[in-house]
Amino acid sequence: EYALRRYKILREMALKLHELRSAVEEAVKALLDFDLFFAVGRFAKDYFLNVPTLSEEYVGIGFINGRNLFLRELELKNKTKVIPVNYVVGDIPIQPPNTNKERIVVLSGANSGGKTTLLNLIAQIVILAQMGLPVPAEEVYMCPFDEIYLFSRSRGIMDAGAFEATLKNFAKVITSPKKKLVLVDELEAITEPGAAAKVIAGILELLYTNKNTCAIFISHLAEEVMKVVKVPIRVDGIEASGLDENLNLIVNRNPIYNYLARSTPELIVERLYHLSKGSEREVYEKLLEEFGGRKSK
Ligand SMILES: Nc1ncnc2c1ncn2[C@@H]1O[C@H](COP(=O)(O)OP(=O)(O)O)[C@@H](O)[C@H]1O
Ligand SMILES: [Mg+2]
Repeated sequence: EYALRRYKILREMALKLHELRSAVEEAVKALLDFDLFFAVGRFAKDYFLNVPTLSEEYVGIGFINGRNLFLRELELKNKTKVIPVNYVVGDIPIQPPNTNKERIVVLSGANSGGKTTLLNLIAQIVILAQMGLPVPAEEVYMCPFDEIYLFSRSRGIMDAGAFEATLKNFAKVITSPKKKLVLVDELEAITEPGAAAKVIAGILELLYTNKNTCAIFISHLAEEVMKVVKVPIRVDGIEASGLDENLNLIVNRNPIYNYLARSTPELIVERLYHLSKGSEREVYEKLLEEFGGRKSK
């Protein structure tokens, strides 16, 4: 008797709940959707993200006022101040003066000038855009790339056998017929400078022959590379002009198009000299002498 009553009540309740089932399912789905978009929206607001313009009609990427996500993260913690940067590679709709739709560029310039930060920003923009998400720049034009490569020292290029392994990797990259973006940070670290410039020049020439390839090579050997390279590539430069009264690098974080910028390592040595004491200071003094003496500060 008791069991039967229990069964009836439960059945009645189950039937009533069943009527509500689809409404609840819809509500849960709506909430999850809302949560996702709300999270993306908040992230977009905090990190100044915007929806990029993607088109198959060109090969390249360019943006205005880009901010590296990790730098912006530090800025949100009040640990730094991000300088937004503009950059353009390829035949996209933004064509700044001194550019000519070049798809292959070498980025030269100051030590600690922001070259790696810019390269990583480009990777962030392309990856987020291709995931269908907004990207960390104000205005962005790009094509969807089938392949994206990023070579940097922090990813193991300095290991034993690095030269051989790296060349093997590049052979694969070069021979792939896909639409690709190749980002390379200081490849010269893999062998002696004279040879490195030749290797870089050769790789750039090979990449140039594929009309579907965009490449940005950060290098301190831009001058040497340009001397041997036989195809029209562009050199851009991030330039440092000195140290300010707080010994911070005075640097234009925006690359100057078609401009070779020096690495100015002496500025970093000078900065360390002024910031150090005792015997360490003597080390930097010695290095500064090698650069032709210390500047008055
Ligand atoms: N756009 C920027 N705005 C503010 N600070 C920056 C910017 N780009 C780089 N920096 C700062 O400069 C430092 C050195 O940058 P990095 O990209 O490593 O230089 P490089 O690769 O040219 O030696 C970074 O740690 C960062 O703090
Ligand atoms: Mg770097």
